[in-house]
Order: sequence, then C-alpha cells, then structure tokens
Amino acid sequence: MKTVCGIYLYGINLLRSCKVSILEVTTTLGCRVACAYCPQELYTKTFIERDRTTRLSLDTLKTSLDNIPEGTLSAVVFSGYSEPFLNPDCTSMILHCLSRNLPVEVFTTMVGVTLDDIDRLRDASIKWVIHIPDNQGLTKIKVDDNYFAMLEKLVDEFEEVVFLFTHGGLLFEYVHPEVLSFLNEKKIRFYDHLEHSRAGHISRKGMTSFRVPGKLRRCWRLNANVLLPNGDVTLCCQDFGQKHLLGNLVTSDYESLFTSEEFAKVEASLEDESIDSLCRQCVLYSFPENPVARGYHALFRLGPPYIRMKMLSVFNELARRVPSRKLQKHINNTPQK
Ligand SMILES: C[S@@+](CC[C@H](N)C(=O)[O-])C[C@H]1O[C@@H](n2cnc3c(N)ncnc32)[C@H](O)[C@@H]1O
Ligand code: SF4
Ligand code: SF4
Repeated sequence: MKTVCGIYLYGINLLRSCKVSILEVTTTLGCRVACAYCPQELYTKTFIERDRTTRLSLDTLKTSLDNIPEGTLSAVVFSGYSEPFLNPDCTSMILHCLSRNLPVEVFTTMVGVTLDDIDRLRDASIKWVIHIPDNQGLTKIKVDDNYFAMLEKLVDEFEEVVFLFTHGGLLFEYVHPEVLSFLNEKKIRFYDHLEHSRAGHISRKGMTSFRVPGKLRRCWRLNANVLLPNGDVTLCCQDFGQKHLLGNLVTSDYESLFTSEEFAKVEASLEDESIDSLCRQCVLYSFPENPVARGYHALFRLGPPYIRMKMLSVFNELARRVPSRKLQKHINNTPQK
C-alpha cells in the first residue's frame, strides 16, 4: 500500500527555489474540464487573437525541445493552462521527452486518459499529480468505474503519484465522497491546494485584487515557463492572459526567451514597482523583500488551510478597509486583462 502526501510538493518547491529551468507544456487550446477556479476563458480569448492553433503537435514539441540546449532543463511538466490528455498525442509527447532523458511530471484530472495511455507509460519514470474532483460541481471530472480503474492502475503501477485537491477553504468534506473513500481505503493521503486568484485573474471567494508593494524577490517560476500549442512561450503558470510573452521556441532558441524585452521588463519590475508585471499581482508566489510582508507570505504558504484562508481574508479585509498609504495606492489599481 502506498502513502503519498503533499510534503513531496513542498519539498519540490523548496528545492526549486534554487535555480531551475522548467518547461511547462500546454497541449491544447482551452480545457473542457472548465474548473470554476481556472481562468480558461482568458487563456482561450487571448490566444486566438494571435493564433488559431488548437493543439500542440508532436513536431512542434520536438522542434521546441531541439531549440533548448541539452542539459538545460531540470524537468518538462505537462500541465500549463489546460488538461494535457485532451490532446490525443499527449502520451507520445511524454514518451518523446523521456527518450531524450528529460524528467517528466504530469498534472492531470485524468480526463482524456485511457487505460491504454497508462499501459504505454507503464515503464516510464513519471511523477503524476492528480487533481481530484469536489462535491460542489466545480470541476467536470466524470467519476465512474472507468475513473477508478485508472486511479487503481496508476497507484499500483507508478512510484510517484500525488493527489491534489484544489479548493477555496479547508474542508475535506468538499472532496468528492467516492474519491475520498477510494483514497481512504488505499490509505493514500491527499494534498490540499488552496485556491488562489491566479495573480488576479480569478475573483471568486471575494478575493481582492491587489499589487504587492516594494521590492520583490526573484521567483523560481521566472525559469518555469509555459509552452503553448503554437510554440509561444509565456512567463509562468499564472500567466493565463499571456501578459508576458517571451518568444516562440519554434522560431527562436531558448536563450532568446531570457534576453527578450519582455523578460527584461519583468525583471526590472521586481526592483521598480512603477513597472507593471504579473508578479506584482501574484499573492501566492511573489515574495516581498520586506521582512514583515515576507513573514506573512511564509505563513500563508505553509500554514494549515484554515489558518491560510483566515489570513487571506483578514489580509484582504485589511487591504480594503485600513490599507497603509503605500498599499492603498496599489489596491485595485491594476488594470485586469
Ligand atoms: C491549471 S491545472 C493544469 C493541469 C491539469 N489540467 C489539472 O487540472 O491538473 C494545474 C493545477 O492548477 C490548479 N489550479 C487551477 N486553478 C487554480 C486556482 N485558482 N488556485 C489554485 N490552484 C489552481 C489545478 O487544481 C491543478 O492542480
Ligand atoms: S484546472 Fe486543469 S482541468 Fe481544470 S480547467 Fe484548469 S486546466 Fe482544465
Ligand atoms: S511571482 Fe507569480 S507571476 Fe511572477 S514568476 Fe512567480 S509565479 Fe509567475
């Protein structure tokens, strides 16, 4: 019997605070799982203004990887802004990455996965992160015999399977009851993943949009960029609106992403708060230099869910009602895309 838990993810986050280079892969345009807390519309609307490609092809992935010097990437993460397996070539793409000796992680709801996909990946060393459904209808994940057959196969056949529950409060009672029973029976713990505003893109649960003031520390996700179906690369997993488009890996090389004007602008924004960037709106991942603000962020990130939720609402309330002059200047001041 396997016990997998979220400590793993915290560990990974900690390790990654050192320099890493990750390529997140978005295999489709849009995601029909349409979770209520995920800014899908923003992703799709913004992308189709530039391009009509609806799926990442194996060729585009291959070319993109060819443009990244060998030994550069610490991992390829199939996640990005959609459900990876809604692209029928997802398994072939994962196998291609593995054939190039690239470590692979897969974030999935299992929507679009088949038993055949799991069989084809059986001998592969992959880290699976499974996004589990709730009982409030916030996700469109079909929970039926086939779903459980796949979960069963996954936990039986892979070493590293982590279960994630994204939600807006504490509450195990919000996990889909049959999935909760399955995990309990298998003695598998799941990791709670607090819903956040995706750098101001989601305003459910009364989340206030605000800008983090002062100097910001460099976030490791500046080097965890997201590949889109046409080879475009955006800053990070928060950039559903593609505000920071760094370049295109089909037409140029990896290095050019980080010598781009857009990347320079984001870097400058960490020092200079008059320069607008997504990092300023990113409550969960941007770390202020200021020690008090940093303490708040550390507690927010590591505390138990109830405390974190409370802190978030208290912070939002304070930000609205008694903001410091500096903060007041920034609250709700950011044009949303
Ligand atoms: C954007 S999804 C992409 C991969 C895949 N479609 C999935 O859902 O696992 C990656 C992760 O982001 C989480 N997520 C989506 N919206 C979120 C939000 N507003 N706050 C926190 N996590 C969120 C999902 O639960 C999932 O674990
Ligand atoms: S969280 Fe994942 S499954 Fe849900 S809508 Fe977003 S990309 Fe799709
Ligand atoms: S601070 Fe937020 S927006 Fe900026 S790179 Fe990190 S995750 Fe992305």
